[in-house]
This record gives sequence, C-alpha cells and structure tokens, in this order.
Amino acid sequence: MAFEPVARTSQIKVGECRIVEMGSHGGPTAPRRIALYRLADGFYATQNECVHRGGELGDGIVSGGSHVVCPLHQWRFDIRTGTCEVAPGTRIRTYPVKVEADVIMIDLDGGTPAVLGLPPDQD
Ligand code: FES
Repeated sequence: MAFEPVARTSQIKVGECRIVEMGSHGGPTAPRRIALYRLADGFYATQNECVHRGGELGDGIVSGGSHVVCPLHQWRFDIRTGTCEVAPGTRIRTYPVKVEADVIMIDLDGGTPAVLGLPPDQD
C-alpha cells in the first residue's frame, strides 16, 4: 500500500492528536482508525487502540511534547517510537507520515510493529 491522505496540516495544531479513519474508500482492507499527532517537529501516527485495554489513543492527551497519555488508564507511550513507560518491552505500532503541500499522508504498511511485553502488576 502507499501513502494515503488523511488530513490537512491546518486541521491539527502542535500538541494535538486526533483519530483519522483510513482504508474506508472501497479498498480491499477494512477501515482502520489511526491516531495522528502533531509535535513541534512534525506529524506522527500510531495505532489508535491502546495495547492495555483498547482505549483510543487519538482521544488521549499529548504530554511533554513527545508522549501520548491513554484516556482510559493513563499509560504513556512515546509517540515517535511507540514504547510504553508503564509496561517495559511493550510498544504500539507506529506508521510513517509525510506531508505534501498541506496534505498529511500515512502509510499503513510501513513503520514498526506493536510488541506486547510482560504485563505489569497493575490494571
Ligand atoms: S486502555 Fe490504555 S491504559 Fe488502559
């Protein structure tokens, strides 16, 4: 698959995140919800579903200029690498993002896969 357009740069401000839906234009794959972020140095994308219990990361809060905090139980993930601070060894999937003119594009086939580490002793 190639990069698909998901939003215009004017639709998301630095320090914000949102959910975008991809693959819903009659393609062979089922639509997927992706979390899109704008940090000071550019745009990033990760899987939307939190690896803990499925919270929507695109509805979370961007914290410290580089992390997203899940809205359900506040696990923190590095937006650039996908690594999780609460569950070492766990990582959410990240996707490549590029901008052409003012259009943000995501490649669902690229990036780094998710990894489930050992569950922590907490909920
Ligand atoms: S569902 Fe994300 S921290 Fe629990």
